[in-house]
Amino acid sequence: MTAALAGAAIHAGRTLDRFEELRQGWERNEPLRTLYAYWFAEIQDALSPVLPGTVVELGSGPAFVRQFMPWMRTSDIVRTPDHDYQIDATAPWPFRDGSLDGLLLFDVLHHLSAPSIIFREATRALRRGGRLVMMEPYVSPLAYPFYRFLHVEGLDPTFEPFACEVAVDKDPFEGNQSVPRLIFEDNAAHLAARFPFLRLIDRRLYSGLSYVATGGFGHLPLVPRFTWSILNGLDRRMPVKLQPLVAFRMLVCLERL
Ligand SMILES: C[S@@+](CC[C@H](N)C(=O)[O-])C[C@H]1O[C@@H](n2cnc3c(N)ncnc32)[C@H](O)[C@@H]1O
Repeated sequence: MTAALAGAAIHAGRTLDRFEELRQGWERNEPLRTLYAYWFAEIQDALSPVLPGTVVELGSGPAFVRQFMPWMRTSDIVRTPDHDYQIDATAPWPFRDGSLDGLLLFDVLHHLSAPSIIFREATRALRRGGRLVMMEPYVSPLAYPFYRFLHVEGLDPTFEPFACEVAVDKDPFEGNQSVPRLIFEDNAAHLAARFPFLRLIDRRLYSGLSYVATGGFGHLPLVPRFTWSILNGLDRRMPVKLQPLVAFRMLVCLERL
């Protein structure tokens, strides 16, 4: 058993409770579902060149993905009937070399103690031309106070994402929201040099006024539906040049060369 699996086993009860809390938050929050529908459409767009194909999501949690991409194969470190596989993303995956067309991680990379394993395993398991798509938090100057003071997950900008090659046992929901920027901005050159068969081909930032206004999974929407739609419209029309200052989310797409 891997260290991460051992940690997940210890925290399995709490993790299952969290899946249920996420499901309940999802059911009672229509704006949140609308926003996720948009993000999943963006993901499907990034995956479209490899579809139809075998695409696996790692860290599916409550498997909301199935409502939008029913063909997706789902998995998590804590398995439920919603998952096709139990997979520790930070250990060798049960797929043959070059057997996958695509991989998805939605809000998972920043929960991993050894994120570099994702790039190693993706290089091995994806076929040539296969795609690794991730949707993750983006801590822009506007988003910083939200992620630092209002969000339940941690934020540690001193973390060295490529320093740890072996995962530790931890609560699967413990996170560090700095990780995506640390990997794809601060350590972009290291990533490219270390994993030369994965090329970053797309990076999209998403303004998050309407994300904050949903109240997330833990609260009801903070504003009336009409106001939320206006904020969502502003987010969608945010000039690309402003996104690095205001974004709350980032989609990255890497292609296996
Ligand atoms: C914030 S949730 C995201 C769930 C889902 N992707 C979504 O967006 O609704 C993070 C998920 O990553 C899973 N996870 C954490 N560490 C993992 C690991 N080492 N391997 C696989 N899944 C892991 C957790 O169990 C949890 O389901």
